[in-house]
Amino acid sequence: MGSLILFLGIIFISALHNGHEPIASGREFIAPELIDKDEVFSNPGLHKVEGKDWDYELVFVVSAFNYNPGKVEIPKGSKVKIIATSRDVVHGFEIAQTNVNMMIEPGHISTFVKTFDKKGEYLLLCNEYCGTGHADMKSNIKVV
Ligand code: CUA
Repeated sequence: MGSLILFLGIIFISALHNGHEPIASGREFIAPELIDKDEVFSNPGLHKVEGKDWDYELVFVVSAFNYNPGKVEIPKGSKVKIIATSRDVVHGFEIAQTNVNMMIEPGHISTFVKTFDKKGEYLLLCNEYCGTGHADMKSNIKVV
């Protein structure tokens, strides 16, 4: 009984403390109807940045049933901050053969910082069931 109370207590405190959000820092929310007017999300793709802890920001707008951009080339060795949101429903964001695996939710901004130090082609795919086109939902990430 004691351990159950402790366990529920931990869940309760962490829910209040972190809001159970999927990301740890930076801007966390964007309304789907504001995506096209937003200075970050109106311009999806790979962008070089200066003065940050990463070399590039890779912005994705995700919707049923595609990723925008549908194809990305990343220079080998780059440290990339992936920034993504959904227009409609919950989607997955898994880059096969890497540790990148996020949930993309409408209204939220999900981020992941990753250094791409192996050349090759990587499949970005949706691993959350999101409707009839789920199985075809993918993008291609090429590290060159
Ligand atoms: Cu998007 Cu499954």
